[in-house]
Amino acid sequence: MSKTYFIQTFGCQMNEHDSEVMAGLLEEKGFLPARTKNEADLVLFNTCSIRDNADKRFFGTLGQLKNKKLEKGDDLIVCCTGCMMQQQRVIDSIKSKYPWVDVVLGTHNIHELPDLLDNLYRERQKQLSVWQDGGEIIEGLPVRRLFEHKSYVNITFGCNNFCTYCIVPYTRGRERSRKPSDIVKEVEGLVADGVKEIMLLGQNVNSYKGDPEGPVADFPDLVKRLNEVEGLERIRFMTSHPKDLSDKLIDCFRTCDKLCHNFHLPVQSGSDRILKRMNRRYDSRKYLDLVRKLREACPDISISTDIIVGFPGETEEDFEDTLKLCREADYDSAFTFLYSIRKGTPAAEYEDQVPEDVKHERFNRLCDEINETSAYKNSLYVGREVEVLCDGPAKRVRGKMSGRTGTFKLVKFKGGSELTGKLVKVRITSSNTFSLEGELI
Ligand code: SAH
Ligand code: SF4
Ligand code: F3S
Repeated sequence: MSKTYFIQTFGCQMNEHDSEVMAGLLEEKGFLPARTKNEADLVLFNTCSIRDNADKRFFGTLGQLKNKKLEKGDDLIVCCTGCMMQQQRVIDSIKSKYPWVDVVLGTHNIHELPDLLDNLYRERQKQLSVWQDGGEIIEGLPVRRLFEHKSYVNITFGCNNFCTYCIVPYTRGRERSRKPSDIVKEVEGLVADGVKEIMLLGQNVNSYKGDPEGPVADFPDLVKRLNEVEGLERIRFMTSHPKDLSDKLIDCFRTCDKLCHNFHLPVQSGSDRILKRMNRRYDSRKYLDLVRKLREACPDISISTDIIVGFPGETEEDFEDTLKLCREADYDSAFTFLYSIRKGTPAAEYEDQVPEDVKHERFNRLCDEINETSAYKNSLYVGREVEVLCDGPAKRVRGKMSGRTGTFKLVKFKGGSELTGKLVKVRITSSNTFSLEGELI
């Protein structure tokens, strides 16, 4: 009988996609997906380290598996990978507190998973394989996609920006770009396999480096090239760093018909003093200027952002600058985070950390402000006809399907599962803060 696997993913799209690759590798070895963690012969945790609560959640979940592992022994294999496994302090605490973990591997070498498992089954010995640095990009790994009709496509790995609060440059290594020809080949293959929408992934897609001599030298060139792929319907990308967002990319919204009218542009703070301390290398004026240009090029574009509240040294005045910027940027939505100390980053050493109660109070005020704008922006859709790529049955509502507009609005509507993967027209009948309701046309 085949063995079964279960992957639990924490963190961002990079991790979600890595999990799809590891699922592909496991299935190539004959593993079958298990329905639940409890039934699986192999449990893999793909971890995230972006904030302290991500760390805590992982250790909590891992701890819950201890008794089962001790009872089942070699019949239950436990693997840990992802960004936490790129840090020595984590590896040390796994070795000392969770010595029953079978396999540990880093973010740069997920392709080694099959070999590590072979060794494990053969030699009955724990396997650790952690690389601190990124090597060559490995092409052609199998992928088990979560959705048939849409897919993530990595274009860059790692990050060179070293924002002072952020752990990613340490866990994902220096930035590396895939070759344009490899990306185009992958996208063409995906489209032949039924994919309609792709999401190009990178910590900072704007700094993608193609072939300086060839037709695809930079990110806008790549978007233009992919816009020509026949049969592809929608192109999305994330994330963009404001310091590298060029007029050439903004212009793609005028010329590339497949480019979705949506832009995620993390601002982090509205205070120029704090932006400087964060090493973001833009100020609020430059940022708002980009927002204005994007809206000029694409009037119905939706814009979202990431904001950190309570970065060291943030005063009430700095925070009010953030509220003011949010009003001016008129966001469709925002991911808001409480600043979390990450050991090994410069900001962790800053002495003027903001007290927890002050952070929480500001966080709540910011969420109220953002939610109010989101609800208003969504209400403007009522009565409009939109195109939705149907993802499947809506969560927690019977008889309804859900999908996204090009502007990334979540839409729920009555319909059957035969609509999954189809582009459908929907008239919006009502709205709330986080989604829209509508009827099929
Ligand atoms: N590469 C992307 C985002 C990476 S992490 C970018 O630069 O936009 C996603 C978000 O997590 C960041 O945008 C930031 O808002 C948040 N984040 C990162 N480190 C954090 C920390 N130490 N505390 C709180 N939020 C953090
Ligand atoms: Fe982190 Fe900054 Fe890189 Fe984004 S750009 S991953 S926030 S260091
Ligand atoms: Fe987390 Fe790593 Fe992504 S730290 S947010 S999984 S790049």
